[in-house]
Amino acid sequence: MIQVTKTFLPPQEEYNAILKRAWDAGWITNRGALVQELEEKLKTYLQVPNIIAMTNGTLPLQIAIKALGLKGEIITTPFSYVATTSSIVWEGCTPVFVDIHPEYLTIDETKIEAAITHKTSAILATHVFGNPCAVEKIETIAEKYNLKVIYDAAHCFGVTYKGKSIFEYGDVSTCSFHATKLFHTGEGGAMFTNDNELYNKLFYHHNFGHKGKEDFQGMGINAKMSELQAAMGLAVFPYLKLITEGRRRVIQFYKSELPTFMEMKLREDTIWNYSYFPIIFENQNQLLRVQKLLNGVNIFPRRYFYPSLENLPYVEGEMCLKSQYVSERILCLPLYPDLEYRHLQQIVKIISTIKQ
Ligand SMILES: Cc1ncc(COP(=O)(O)O)c(C=O)c1O
Repeated sequence: MIQVTKTFLPPQEEYNAILKRAWDAGWITNRGALVQELEEKLKTYLQVPNIIAMTNGTLPLQIAIKALGLKGEIITTPFSYVATTSSIVWEGCTPVFVDIHPEYLTIDETKIEAAITHKTSAILATHVFGNPCAVEKIETIAEKYNLKVIYDAAHCFGVTYKGKSIFEYGDVSTCSFHATKLFHTGEGGAMFTNDNELYNKLFYHHNFGHKGKEDFQGMGINAKMSELQAAMGLAVFPYLKLITEGRRRVIQFYKSELPTFMEMKLREDTIWNYSYFPIIFENQNQLLRVQKLLNGVNIFPRRYFYPSLENLPYVEGEMCLKSQYVSERILCLPLYPDLEYRHLQQIVKIISTIKQ
């Protein structure tokens, strides 16, 4: 069976050797040596001033909203994973959806200002499939209206924009290290900020507010990464180049074999990470036909993101027509480093049939 992705599993003996360090120390959580080592490695690799490793990529979104003290309305994108919207609602705020740019697939920055009201406190946008939002324009709007900016950068491990890590943009950026992501810790995630004061606040928030054993700095929650998760990250880390190169090779094949399909347009000045390969069909029927044909031979691409988030049962708002259009037609193709050539050929052959 071929899924949309396959978790990269490092050689088990290498994972075991790292786990042994946790066993020897008798320490498997509460920010032990492995979490700290992973944070240091990632900080250097990603060239970021601050990082907090966390238990997944959703809690950092919620913690960012909480720590920034956001209230009222948060402007957000309808084209993202459900966690982007649910985090806003979970934190007691109201998502206000602004439609997307149909080629970049990120929030349409030219429509943000019209959605700002006296209740707006922030913009929470997603760098979709690792494609950066129009970060400079969003920053200008945020400054003009005194809004905070959070980026859901769940897909962005290793992405740079204008020569610096995409995690450095916005007040806070978050990432997911879920098993389906190109760098992963099984479940896991991280948050990033360039602001040292905010970093301290986020740090306390992710560990119950603990300041030492008996003192507390504000209210917090438990979002700590465990040593077992960090061990997986440390075992995957040496293979990052191989993983990225393998994905690049698969994407190159798709691009050369499926030239007539619409793809996401990458923002200029971006060094991308090859995290996903979505194609956009002319209509939903084509997508459904291809999906059925592929499923028939045990190949399972993913409708991602679908549905457009303004359709969630717990939100209100007008239909975002461009997001709706894209989400009905977009399919992420199987993508992982050791996807075999014969399977790639089979996939493109089946997809190409709908154009004949
Ligand atoms: C855009 C986006 N945001 C947030 C998340 C949530 O991350 P996690 O599954 O690590 O909680 C995901 C997960 O796939 C995602 O794709």
